Amino acid sequence: MQDKIERVLISREEIQAKIAELGEQISKDYAGKNLQLICVLKGAVVFLADLMRQISVPVEIDFMAVSSYGADTKTSGIVRILKDLEGSIAHKHCLIVEDIIDSGLTLKYLKENLESRQPASVKIVTLLDKPERRRVNITPDYCGFTIPDEFVVGYGLDFAEQYRSLPDICVLAE
Ligand code: IMP
Ligand code: MG
Repeated sequence: MQDKIERVLISREEIQAKIAELGEQISKDYAGKNLQLICVLKGAVVFLADLMRQISVPVEIDFMAVSSYGADTKTSGIVRILKDLEGSIAHKHCLIVEDIIDSGLTLKYLKENLESRQPASVKIVTLLDKPERRRVNITPDYCGFTIPDEFVVGYGLDFAEQYRSLPDICVLAE
């Protein structure tokens, strides 16, 4: 499997250092509040697990799984909810935890969907951002790394469900 990896783009040490910074900033910004983390399955689970342990305010976690409606989604941005949250988010401060923002279609849909449920607030933290590929206007409130337009795997991110368990973020060979 490892032979398909071209190179490490972001090492495990760099990831952990960045997550410590993100956790500190988030803890400051939400001081005195409780935080509802909403993890987007499956790619963001590794990031969630590390990030939540760097946040010092009380957190609850919940999960959502979404999928795009085939080719139509490229223009419509319609996203199907495969798994919804277990609990209500009414009056809660919500932070969507995402692995990577690419076109932005998934997150735009998700954010608007969550905002319709009367939360106290909805913000976004993403580990990676590929702004060159953006098709809709959405900006994360917290971002780990801005990366060029390359397909990356590892640290939760997959190619055809493979490579999620790699500890570093890597670029796949062609
Ligand atoms: P989008 O922002 O709606 O285009 O979709 C973002 C989703 O596409 C992410 O949550 C990932 O699941 C997937 N994705 C985008 N770029 C990559 C990549 O470089 N590697 C792995 N998955 C990616
Ligand atoms: Mg994802």
